[in-house]
Amino acid sequence: MKKRGVVGISKKALLYTLAVLLLVTVTAVLSACAGSGIDISKDVDEKATFPEFTRDPDDTYEWEESTEPPTETETEPETEEPVELVGLREAFANYFYIGVALPNNVLQNWVRYKDVILKNFNSITCENEMKPDFMLSQSESRKNLDVTYTDPVVHFSSPQLAVKYATQNNIKMRLHTLVWHAQTPKWFFTEDYTNEGNLVSRDVMLQRMESYIKQVLTYYKENYPGLIYAVDVVNEAFDVGNGDENGIRRVDNLWHQTIGPDYVYYAFYYARKYAADDMKLFYNDYGCMYKIDLILRNLKKIKSEGLIDGIGMQAHMDYDTDSNAFKKAMRAFVEAGYELQLTELDIGVKKNNEAQFKAQANQYKRIFQAAKELVERGYKVTSITVWGLTDTLTWRSGQYPLLFNSDLTPKPAISAILSVFDK
Ligand code: GLA
Repeated sequence: MKKRGVVGISKKALLYTLAVLLLVTVTAVLSACAGSGIDISKDVDEKATFPEFTRDPDDTYEWEESTEPPTETETEPETEEPVELVGLREAFANYFYIGVALPNNVLQNWVRYKDVILKNFNSITCENEMKPDFMLSQSESRKNLDVTYTDPVVHFSSPQLAVKYATQNNIKMRLHTLVWHAQTPKWFFTEDYTNEGNLVSRDVMLQRMESYIKQVLTYYKENYPGLIYAVDVVNEAFDVGNGDENGIRRVDNLWHQTIGPDYVYYAFYYARKYAADDMKLFYNDYGCMYKIDLILRNLKKIKSEGLIDGIGMQAHMDYDTDSNAFKKAMRAFVEAGYELQLTELDIGVKKNNEAQFKAQANQYKRIFQAAKELVERGYKVTSITVWGLTDTLTWRSGQYPLLFNSDLTPKPAISAILSVFDK
């Protein structure tokens, strides 16, 4: 007979129970922290408290280079229950594009998601696949340095699924993003295209920047005319805490380290040189409501030379982010003569319960209402993109920030957004 402990269970069972209890406790604590949104809701509309926001430049995506586009999973079953599909894109057709960020793992299951996507969205942003980490080929760039030293090799397979479905379905795309301190490989900045190499000179890096921008924009201009309506030329360049005396991001920013603070100017200069006329050029940033003046000041020269069209407010926020402050930033940018897009909207809550989803719905409504009103007053607000499709297909899944539940049913936010048309 097995020896039993005081409460009549075996030692093994006791240990197992304790382990399960420990796991449950740890998971509960972790998800309470992750889902609480406490910090982000207080004073950042955006990223300071998200782990992703403290990326170091070496922390690039590991991905295997391939010239083959990602393949679809044809066998994916249709969702069993018919879902209510809604129709945001139609509702806002006279106002702005309604966009969604999609990563390849969603696009690979197109059959499963397509009805909801096609019903609601007429703009797609690749969540990652158009970032330099995914577009630059290290192995090819290293092969023939005589040629590639100032002309890095770019390949276009990674975003190909998005491009395919967008063109097939008459959907437009935002190109995100050309010049950013994160998700850009360190080797791109070194003499021999290795992570260990010495950084190249300003002059060489300017040539690489021009070459990269030229290759990417020319490819889409020539092969898919009309597809890309907005380009995030520079992402997240202004940040007082991490910036130089003008607030231009210096910390962990190899663009600043090689070229200097005018890397922002040159990025727009080259982008204008190679972009098609219908590709609008954007500066994209987080926490815009906290840095209106900083952004406007640093873009002044670029704007005065006609090199920029618009400002993209990322808009990662929470249900209780000060929406008046957010609206004030929206107004400031359009009044300063910029086209405006909300490029990465998601609104976090603390828990997935009815009350929180109601508060989230009201916040979504306030934001859409503000954008709609600006358009009605003659300003250019040209697109609102949500940063993901469902509450599980998002980098903030602990905060349930999106418009659809994981089973693709609409959350209260959808009817709240549509109610901006109620008389
Ligand atoms: C920033 C970037 C996005 C995405 C998010 C979340 O907002 O612009 O591309 O990476 O961070 O990580």
